[in-house]
Amino acid sequence: MRKPIIAGNWKMNKTIKEALELINSLKRELVYIEGVDIIVCPPYTALSDASEILMDSNIKLGAQDVYWEHSGAFTGEVSALMLKDVGCEYVILGHSERRKYFFETDEAVNKKIKTSLSVGLTPICCVGETLDEREEEKTFDIIKRQLQGALKDLSQEDISRLVIAYEPVWAIGTGKTATPVQAEEVHKFIRTWLERHYSYQTSQELRILYGGSVKPSNTKELMREDDIDGALVGGASLESVTFIEIVKNAI
Ligand code: PGA
Repeated sequence: MRKPIIAGNWKMNKTIKEALELINSLKRELVYIEGVDIIVCPPYTALSDASEILMDSNIKLGAQDVYWEHSGAFTGEVSALMLKDVGCEYVILGHSERRKYFFETDEAVNKKIKTSLSVGLTPICCVGETLDEREEEKTFDIIKRQLQGALKDLSQEDISRLVIAYEPVWAIGTGKTATPVQAEEVHKFIRTWLERHYSYQTSQELRILYGGSVKPSNTKELMREDDIDGALVGGASLESVTFIEIVKNAI
C-alpha cells in the first residue's frame, strides 16, 4: 500500500508573516491526521521560520527548486545542502513553470535530482505535457522524454527514493483539471515505464502525484484511481481551509 502524499506548492507567494499564519493554522488543524504524508513548500525566505514551527510535527517541509552545485560562485542560487540545513526533506524539481520561464531542461532536472539525493532530500520530479502536445497526441512521447532525461543514470535505489508528479501544463492554475480517467492513463503509463526500466517492485512502491487545479471537490475522485497516490497542489494550498480539506479527502 502506497501512503498518499498531499504537497502544497506555494510558488512565489506569501511574506514570512503570511506564511507563518498559514503554517500555524495547518499545524493546528492537521495535528491528528495520520495515513497521509503532508508537505508544504513555501518560498525560500520563509523556510527557516517554517522549519522551526514544523519541527516534530506531522507536516514536512519542502523547497521549490535547488541548484546542482554544492557551493561556489553561483549568485542567486541555493544548494541542496543549504535546503537540508534549513530543515527541508523534499524539493520540487522540474516544475513546468521552471521549464517555461527559466528554460530548465531535462538535463538540468537530472543534475538537480542527483544533487538532492546525495544529501538525502527527496525530489518531487514533475513531468507533464502542454495543451498543444496533448492535442497533437504527443502526451506519452513527452512524458517518456522527460522521464528518460530526468532519471538518466539513476540507480534502482535512487529511483526508490523519488516521488514523481504528473502535472499536465494545461491544467496548472487554469481551473481545468484533468479528468480522473485522463490522469490515470498517464499515471499508469509512468508506472509501466518504471517497471520496464527498473523493476516491478520499484514501480509499485513509487508514489506518483497528480497536479493541476486540484481542489477539495475533485481530490476524492482523483485519489480513487489505482495509480494516483496524492496531489501536488498550487492555488488551493494557499488557503488553510482548502488545503486542510484536500488533505482530509486524501485519506
Ligand atoms: P495549481 O498548481 O494547483 O494552482 O493548478 C499546481 C502546481 O503548479 O503544482
